[in-house]
This record gives sequence, structure tokens and C-alpha cells, in this order.
Amino acid sequence: MRLNSQDAYQLLIKDVITSEEDWNQPENRWLKHCIYVGEAAGRIAAQMELDSDFARALGYVHDIGRKVSHPRHVIEGYSYLMRLGYDEMARSCLTHSFIDNDINLTAGGPLRTDTQAMMLPYLDSHPVNIYDNIVQLCDLFCLDTGYTTVEKRMLDISKRKGVFSNSLEHFHSALNLKVRIEEQLGCSLYDLFPEISKEDILHIRKDRDELERLLVVPMIKKK
Ligand SMILES: [Fe+2]
Repeated sequence: MRLNSQDAYQLLIKDVITSEEDWNQPENRWLKHCIYVGEAAGRIAAQMELDSDFARALGYVHDIGRKVSHPRHVIEGYSYLMRLGYDEMARSCLTHSFIDNDINLTAGGPLRTDTQAMMLPYLDSHPVNIYDNIVQLCDLFCLDTGYTTVEKRMLDISKRKGVFSNSLEHFHSALNLKVRIEEQLGCSLYDLFPEISKEDILHIRKDRDELERLLVVPMIKKK
């Protein structure tokens, strides 16, 4: 079952935003990221002549599991929406973290064996579709303050989450995903999002070079 984008938005903020001041709480910043991902997914889908309302709804709920837990938000979001019967929305909670629904192409290092065992059967039985890909890409250029470049966002993620054995492949897969989406858009992703600052665009080469240097020396992931 699906949610339209208005209902998805309401479900996202339910019990988190109870007054206007709640938007300014630092612990609620993730909601703004979700809203930017939803808006971006809708814009990309519209340009591709896909169902833009569905894409927007998927983007809104992709991190909804953060209502329950940040580290387990993928599983928690999936379980939450499945309990409500929104199986088509639950999909984006699980697939958004894995480029092309490939369990190895994720930020923050390879998953623990037990987490992998939980997610792998679902990912294996749900081959990637264009809506998965759109949300996966949007997650990689949407901040909680707006849009940026994939290069800047991934540099920031790598500095915060660390560099692991799969990080370089993950970065290259993200760039490859961007190129594939741009082929379908018929224009550059960054042309579709003129809100991205000139400074971020000017720094693409520098950010990419810094990432390449950073990612060739993976640490051993501690869990
Ligand atoms: Fe996200």
C-alpha cells in the first residue's frame, strides 16, 4: 500500500513536531533532511515524467525510522511502515542506504553479520527500480539545510563516519548513479538544483580529489 505525499509528510512529523518551536530543536534536524530528500525526489521524478508524488512521498519517509533510533533507523523505519501496512513506502526505508540495492554499497562501512542477515533476503528479492535509485541519490546530495553536491556530501559523510574497506567503491558507485540519473534527466543534476551554492559547485574537483585521497586508506571498522 502507498501513501500520497501529503499523508507521508504528516506521518513523518507525527509525534515529533507538536509546535512550531519543535522545528528549531537540533534533535529534529533530520526531519528537514527528509523533507529536502522528498522535494528533490519529486523534482527529479517530474523531470523524468515519472510519478512525482510517489517519489516525493518515498523521500519524505526514507529516514522515518529515526523517530525510534538513529543507528537502527533503516530497520526501525521499515518495521514501522510495514506495521501500518505501507509496504511500498517501507521499501524506501530499507533500500535508501544501499546503492542499487547492493548490501555492500553503503556508507559507514560493511554491515555487521547479524544486520546483514536481516537485510540481505529483502534486498536480494527486491531488484533495484528507478524510485529506489532516485531516493538513494537524493540522500547523497540533500542536507538538513538544503542541497549540495554529491562530492561535498560524501566528503562530509566520510569525515564523520570514517573510511572503510567499501568506501571508495561506494563513492564511485554514487558518482556512477548520478551519471545514470542525469542520462535519464537529459541535463546535469546540478542544473536541476540551481539552489546549490556556486561555492559548492566550484569545489567539486577539490572535494573529489580530497575524497579519493581519503578513501584509499581505509581503517578497520570497529563495532
Ligand atoms: Fe537520509
